[in-house]
Amino acid sequence: MDKFGSIKRTVWCGAARMEDVGREIAVCGWVQRRRDLGHLLFVDLRDRTGILQLAFDDQTDRAVFEKALSLRSEYVLAARGRVRERSSKNFDIPTGEVELEVTELQILAQSETPPFEIVEDSDVNDVLRLKHRYLDLRRPDMVRILQLRHKIVKCARDYFDEQGFLEIETPMLTKSTPEGARDYLVPSRVHPGTFYALPQSPQQYKQLLMVAGVDRYFQIARCFRDEDLRADRQPEFTQIDLEMSFVDEEDVIAINEGFLKRVFKSVLGVDIETPIQRIPYREAMERFGSDKPDLRFGLELCNISDVVANCGFKVFSGPVAEGGSVRALCVPGGAKAFPRKQIDALTDFVKTYGAKGLAWMRLSDEGATSSFAKFMTEEETAAILSRCGANTGDLVLIVGDASNKVVFAALGALRCEVARRMNLIPEGVYKLVWVTEFPMFEYSEEEGRYVAVHHPFTAPMDEDADLVETDRANCRAKAYDIVLNGTELGGGSIRISTPEMQTKMFRALGLTDADAQERFGHLLTAFKYGAPPHGGLAYGLDRLVMLLADAESIRDVIAFPKVQNASELMTNCPDTVDPKQLEELHITISAAETE
Ligand code: AMO
Repeated sequence: MDKFGSIKRTVWCGAARMEDVGREIAVCGWVQRRRDLGHLLFVDLRDRTGILQLAFDDQTDRAVFEKALSLRSEYVLAARGRVRERSSKNFDIPTGEVELEVTELQILAQSETPPFEIVEDSDVNDVLRLKHRYLDLRRPDMVRILQLRHKIVKCARDYFDEQGFLEIETPMLTKSTPEGARDYLVPSRVHPGTFYALPQSPQQYKQLLMVAGVDRYFQIARCFRDEDLRADRQPEFTQIDLEMSFVDEEDVIAINEGFLKRVFKSVLGVDIETPIQRIPYREAMERFGSDKPDLRFGLELCNISDVVANCGFKVFSGPVAEGGSVRALCVPGGAKAFPRKQIDALTDFVKTYGAKGLAWMRLSDEGATSSFAKFMTEEETAAILSRCGANTGDLVLIVGDASNKVVFAALGALRCEVARRMNLIPEGVYKLVWVTEFPMFEYSEEEGRYVAVHHPFTAPMDEDADLVETDRANCRAKAYDIVLNGTELGGGSIRISTPEMQTKMFRALGLTDADAQERFGHLLTAFKYGAPPHGGLAYGLDRLVMLLADAESIRDVIAFPKVQNASELMTNCPDTVDPKQLEELHITISAAETE
């Protein structure tokens, strides 16, 4: 191996061009591949910017040529030489018209044969990729994602700086105030039996910064939530987090539309239209069955509850009588696109969302056929078709349930699934929408109490302020989500800023005043010392990068992500620790857990 130092890089591999011909340059990188043509030898050298062909000729310098003969994939090199025009050009790569005629070569590291080839769009299995993530990250598609992520973060920093925001770090070791997801806890050595929690978001700190007079804060904030993983969730993830004083919803939305406009233009070159469309939560649910509607395609839901309320088919009339609903999805051209077998698959699909089944009706030239014809009169069937606006060739899919939540979840997901199967989702289209007027509370069967839909610091809408105490089910919040192509990109709200309303809110959430004081006393006290009206928002940075990079999972846009069971395959964590560490932390592991 050669000692590093005498050949220092003067240009990146991906930068060499025809205008450099004749120039002496030095490059550093990894061997992509080597090709031997007898007295000529070519090596593709790769760094994070691209590939440059190195040429070795046994006539020019025998010693350098011999050294080059020992090169293998992923060896690390430094090479100096003169740029020359290639005799056979490769117009597929930006450096493909030139090559480096090497006069000096250093081997800085050798490499074992890598467990997979370092190439674009590799179909290597995920476990192997993540185990050797440092190799995976050498692949050009991963490099592009890391660069895109960097660009988005830089864009956020530049934009919010220009708008007068201060970037301020908030603590990682914080007080546990579980609301929503489970906390990751960190035991204290100094205070036996007590724990810090890693922040689920910097929510309370950023509000306290507003009380402090910071006025405009932002942070690229790492957050931790111990929840089940999905394609758009990781146990640790990053938010672009911001908070502003002396603002209402319009101000927060305006600042953020400016940011979104900037990020789309600078990263993708796409002009997004502002103001961005807004849809109140209720309408989003009614029309799309989701509070994060994908607006790239139609397929809106249709409420047929009143049409079927008195029909003879109990599967329909039953849920309506029980306070639920029956809703339909009319699929234009769906009669042909979904033969019986496919409808069975869709039925299994909606069952995963809690639906008991999927009723269907097809409208062809011969008239309507359906899964429930024998339970209904022709007039009743005709009334459903007319309500849905169904035409010949259409398929109508129907879900009824005593729980509206189930109906919306099943049909909202089915709408997207049908669109996917029928290729109705256009590529390269970005449909942003603000979902507003979220409910303040939702009843949690699991906890047996109302919980906050966004979080307990969100202010109720002015016209619903009294409902915090009198009618939680109908109380709406000054909360807004920004949704991109069916993914919740970010969410925020105008906050409560008086101790009186904050106390009412904690009571409405079932906390005793003593509990509220113990868990949130710092906030309640701070609000007594002059809290400005304030509000903010946080984007999921990983989700933003995923969507702009057109990646399938946020895992693909995080340098070192966790897998489904929340472990990290490369370093193999979580892992057991030294008994001495546990002792210092006053922790004993029960025998059952170590088995
Ligand atoms: P919220 O909980 O809605 O709001 O989170 C904001 C955004 O963070 C992203 N996100 C996640 N991304 C990856 N993995 C996860 N597990 C995960 N959980 C959330 C989403 C989401 O929209 N403090 C408030 C914001 C505020 O009110 O200002 C908050 O954290 O994109």
